[in-house]
Amino acid sequence: MEQQPAHSIAQLVQPARVHRSLYTDPQIFELELKHIFGTAWIYVGHESQVRNVGDYFCTMLGRKAVIVVRDASGKLQVIHNQCAHRGAMVVASDKGHTDEFQCCYHGWTYHLDGRLKAIPLLHGYPADFNPKSGKTAMTQVARVMSYRGFIFVSEAADGPSLEEALNHMTTSIDDMVDRAPDGDIEVAGGTFRHVYNGNWKLYLENLCDAAHPWFTHRSSIDAAQQQKDDVLSDGSGEIAIRQMRQNGAPYSFWESQVGIWTYPNGHSYLGDYHDDSKLVAAMNDPVFRDYIGMLEAKKGKAEARRILEVSRWNSNVYPNLSFMSQFQQLRVIHPIAVNRTEVHTYCFKLRGAPERMFQNTISFANIVNGTGSLVLTDDLEIYNRIGIGLSSEGADWIEIGRGYQSDGPADHGGRQGKNSTSEIYIRNMFDAWLSYMTGTPASAALRQGAA
Ligand code: FES
Ligand SMILES: [Fe+2]
Repeated sequence: MEQQPAHSIAQLVQPARVHRSLYTDPQIFELELKHIFGTAWIYVGHESQVRNVGDYFCTMLGRKAVIVVRDASGKLQVIHNQCAHRGAMVVASDKGHTDEFQCCYHGWTYHLDGRLKAIPLLHGYPADFNPKSGKTAMTQVARVMSYRGFIFVSEAADGPSLEEALNHMTTSIDDMVDRAPDGDIEVAGGTFRHVYNGNWKLYLENLCDAAHPWFTHRSSIDAAQQQKDDVLSDGSGEIAIRQMRQNGAPYSFWESQVGIWTYPNGHSYLGDYHDDSKLVAAMNDPVFRDYIGMLEAKKGKAEARRILEVSRWNSNVYPNLSFMSQFQQLRVIHPIAVNRTEVHTYCFKLRGAPERMFQNTISFANIVNGTGSLVLTDDLEIYNRIGIGLSSEGADWIEIGRGYQSDGPADHGGRQGKNSTSEIYIRNMFDAWLSYMTGTPASAALRQGAA
């Protein structure tokens, strides 16, 4: 029988606070893998990683190893990376190209869609052994869908479609793709991987946290503020300095210029962020000006303006994806244990954009996502400190109430923080969390505030 945690799940989530065991209890973590990562639409990768028949890459669905592959008919398949013979992991490389998958234990060989293709010593199996039955195939994940190239899977055979689940967040994906003059984006460059000793939920909680840079990223803010303004005009440190100065914007900026929007199923984005007057985008950057010219040439001035006026920072698609269109960054969260999380970071190239745009993308990735980054290392220190702090068994409850009285409705069924320092997006994620974990429709009680 499945073990239940010491407290009932519903008692652990209250309107403006949650119990620390949500971040520390191994039983709750196991239930999250089953009820959230085992049912929700989980991002697994991008179609540009499997453009041709036979292209594949391996990833994790919760703790389950899976292969994402383009099969012989050109269809996307996601199959469990487990041999139907005695269970060995079949594919050990991160990515590649192949005609078939062959298990290196006893040589069972599979078609790209997981069906058994050949089997050594077939004569030795029992008379009723049927190599064409589903029992001898690598198992396909129940549902695979993609939205504009972003591939998601769900282990639930039934439920909302991907677009229903994404809801208004489709517009954030649109923003990512529409920025390509040729209308297509592709994963390019390498992958940053980092781990921290803390719970997976901390990561998404940090990516829209406008209240932490002033303290957490103090050292890089101080260093950037000491630079002369003329370093902004050229040089490889340009984006770094702009971003670090942005992190040092006063609270008056975060409380008047930037907003936070949330949507059903735990999704959110930080918005009104990177227009030219707010530092990082910098339309005056010569590379960006070239890019605008190419975008206008392909899409027309009005459409180019519409695309560039979308000014979102991080978009969080609950429970495992965060991306940012301005510098084409994407991060995937992999829960390993209740106190251990791995994050993979990818960069995208905009097809039809100047090559130097991609250099900016890489430069930005090194600054905020690289394992040697002056910014990421601060955040990793925080995740580790939270992991230690929440395990200390001091206070049992965590406050997530900032903005609770002042949040209000937004278009498309959303809720909006009065400003970007509201913790509404954390309450929104726990609203979805409670719904997944208890199997009841989201009440939106946490999102709606007390006012
Ligand atoms: S476990 Fe794969 S062929 Fe035996
Ligand atoms: Fe940070």
